[in-house]
Amino acid sequence: MATILLLSGPNLNLLGEREPEIYGTATLDDCVGDARAAAEAAGHTLEHFQSNHEGELIDAIHAARGRCAAIVMNPGAFTHSSYALADALAAFDGVKVELHLSNPSAREEWRRKSVVAPYVTGTISGFGRIGYRLAVEAAISKL
Ligand code: DQA
Repeated sequence: MATILLLSGPNLNLLGEREPEIYGTATLDDCVGDARAAAEAAGHTLEHFQSNHEGELIDAIHAARGRCAAIVMNPGAFTHSSYALADALAAFDGVKVELHLSNPSAREEWRRKSVVAPYVTGTISGFGRIGYRLAVEAAISKL
């Protein structure tokens, strides 16, 4: 049995209220519930941590080293800007899945670049809430 860490970056605490035409009406609790159900269905444990602060997300990645088998992460806007988060992911030895509700490649120019993408196993984006289940299943397939 493995522990999978789900990390949620800035502004994802506002899911359900925030730009629902882009991100949907499900809350972060709904998405985490789907992710946890997928992990538990396969006999694994899911932990979740959300922060609006870059350093707290980095600390959570460090704390997962040697303890968690996989990280599923929606880094929010840090996807496009945080070299520090990218470096922290590079230092994590397990499976890493980048997750987005929307498809950033089909949106504004500045969202089209992910600085974490070179350090992840794969990416799930554009499928809204369902992506949380898909991302956990994808991570488990690589354990
Ligand atoms: C997001 C996409 C990012 O560009 C954006 O900054 C977010 C959410 C998504 O889930 O679609 O906060 O990661």
